[in-house]
Amino acid sequence: MKQSAVVTGGASGIGLAVAERLLDDGWPVAVLDADLEALARAEEALSGENAIFLAADVTDEDDVAESFDEVVDRLGLIGGLVNSAGIACNLSAEETSAERFREVLDVNLVGSFITAKAGLERMGASLSIVNLTSVSGLRANRGRVAYGASKAGVKLMTEVLALEFGNRAVRVNCVAPGAIQTPMITRLHTPEARRQWLGRVPQARYGEPEEVAAAIAFLLSPEASYINGHTLAVDGGFLAAGLIEEG
Ligand SMILES: NC(=O)c1ccc[n+]([C@@H]2O[C@H](COP(=O)([O-])OP(=O)(O)OC[C@H]3O[C@@H](n4cnc5c(N)ncnc54)[C@H](O)[C@@H]3O)[C@@H](O)[C@H]2O)c1
Repeated sequence: MKQSAVVTGGASGIGLAVAERLLDDGWPVAVLDADLEALARAEEALSGENAIFLAADVTDEDDVAESFDEVVDRLGLIGGLVNSAGIACNLSAEETSAERFREVLDVNLVGSFITAKAGLERMGASLSIVNLTSVSGLRANRGRVAYGASKAGVKLMTEVLALEFGNRAVRVNCVAPGAIQTPMITRLHTPEARRQWLGRVPQARYGEPEEVAAAIAFLLSPEASYINGHTLAVDGGFLAAGLIEEG
């Protein structure tokens, strides 16, 4: 039996594009999300495919355990896990409360840890995990004190998991998207923020969720069989860039 893939945050944006791509690649896919309306829309969009749709909050260990058990019952042992569930926060350090900081860490970092453990406990012959970090976890971007710290944590957590499970047929990698056109970014980026981002991206455009999904599908696949603990930027050159404007 083919191993299943779980996509958290799979009802929107990058996660939804990943679910579509993995279905095209032949994976049985479990779409997990906390947003019931988005989940219903995803189910409608992907109906007839080899996919199941489960409501779960990644910060709730019982919820996650129950849904991962259901994935194994309905689709088989887990061979792929993509942690795309996340929340964004664009506030200066002065405006960021400790409560908000904890909330962002809880979803983006602890949530990815909880699902990684749940996947490891229910893995098939092999498991590839791809976590979503961000260019804001690798560079200091204004307003990203909580979000950036959570994503820097995701990168390091990925590396420790890659190390501790590397000899057990498990690979753990990250993708670090730049600005990708998703509902999250539509909510977060004002016209001024868009102008600033575009001025820093050599490819001079936002990325599409499908472009991130392609990188994730590669990292999940046997094509990436010796790639472990790596962070792959999908950012149009944002991290590489220095002076951009001609002058
Ligand atoms: N869009 C970008 O430009 C960008 C850039 C870098 C990194 N990322 C990361 O990529 C991932 C996906 O982002 P997106 O732009 O597709 O966002 P999105 O808001 O479109 O999708 C995120 C999904 O996660 C779900 N979610 C949030 N909290 C959850 C929880 N506690 N439990 C379960 N599901 C939960 C939401 O309901 C939503 O469906 C996030 O981790 C984000 O930080 C996005």
